[in-house]
Amino acid sequence: MGFWQGVREDIQAIFEHDPAATSMLAVLLCYPGLHARTFHRFNHWLWIKRFRLLARWLSQVVRFFTGIEIHPGAVLGRRVFIDHGMGVVIGETAFVGDDVTLYQGVTLGGTGKEKGKRHPTLRSGVFVGNNANILGNITIGENSRVGAGSVVLRDVPPNSTVVGVPAHIIYQDGKRVLITDPKDVKDPLSDVIIALAGEVRELKERLGFSEPASASGDHAVQHLQSVRTLADEDSERDEYRFTQRPFDEQFTEIASGI
Ligand SMILES: CC(C)(COP(=O)(O)OP(=O)(O)OC[C@H]1O[C@@H](n2cnc3c(N)ncnc32)[C@H](O)[C@@H]1OP(=O)(O)O)[C@@H](O)C(=O)NCCC(=O)NCCS
Repeated sequence: MGFWQGVREDIQAIFEHDPAATSMLAVLLCYPGLHARTFHRFNHWLWIKRFRLLARWLSQVVRFFTGIEIHPGAVLGRRVFIDHGMGVVIGETAFVGDDVTLYQGVTLGGTGKEKGKRHPTLRSGVFVGNNANILGNITIGENSRVGAGSVVLRDVPPNSTVVGVPAHIIYQDGKRVLITDPKDVKDPLSDVIIALAGEVRELKERLGFSEPASASGDHAVQHLQSVRTLADEDSERDEYRFTQRPFDEQFTEIASGI
C-alpha cells in the first residue's frame, strides 16, 4: 500500500472514530496522532533501509512536537488511531494490527527482562484506554479491549475486556467473567487473599455456618452477594445524577452556544 493511500485511510479512521473531527482542516492541524503516525511511516522506511540513527533521531523530533514516541522499528497496521496521544510510547518490537485505537498515555513496552521480541503484539481491532500499560512479549487478541489505567502482563484472548492492575478479564465473547476463586487474583496480594478466604472458611466451619465447601464454590457465593449489594451503590449514583441534571441542561445550553 502506498504512503498517501495509508495517510488517507488514517484520516478516514479519525472521522469514523471521533465525533469531534468536523473538518479536514481540523484533522490535518489538530491530531498529533496523525502527525506521529505519518512521520512513523517515513521513519520506519529509514529503519528498514538501515539509516537507523537518523530514524531514531527523527522519531525523537516527532516526540518533541507530538508527545508521542514511536520507535522506528515498531510495525503499525492500517487505520491505527492514536487519540490525544500525549505520553504514548510504542517500543521497538511492538506490532500493532489494523484498526487499533490507542488513547493518551498508553505504553506498549518491555518488562526489562526480555531480549529480542520484547514488546506486545496487538491484533486487529484492539482498543486500549488511556494510560494503560501493556508490557512484555504478550498478545492482545482480536477486538479485545483494555481498560483505562490497566497494567496487562499476560496474553489476552480475542473478544475480551480486561481491567485492573494487574489486568484480569471481565468480559469474554460478550459474557461477564467473575473472579470466583481467590487463586485467580494474580497480584502480589493474592497470597493474603487466599489465606484470608481459607481462614473465613475455617471459621465458618467451626461455627457451623456452612458445610465444608470447596474454596471456589464458597467464594463464588460470597462474590455474587457482593455484586448484588452494588445495586444499592448504583441507585445512589442515579440519585446523584438526578440532582446534577439541572446543571447538565445548563451546560448543554452553554456548550451549544459556543
Ligand atoms: C474497560 C472499558 C472498555 C469497559 O467498558 P464496558 O464494557 O462498558 O464495561 P463496564 O462499564 O460494564 O464495566 C464492567 C466492570 O469493570 C469495571 N471497570 C470498567 N473499566 C475499568 C477500568 N478502566 N479499571 C478498573 N475497572 C474498570 C467497572 O467498574 C465494572 O465493574 P463492576 O461490574 O464490578 O461494577 C472501559 O471502562 C474503559 O476503561 N474505557 C476506556 C475509555 C478511555 O480511555 N477514554 C479516554 C477518553 S480521552
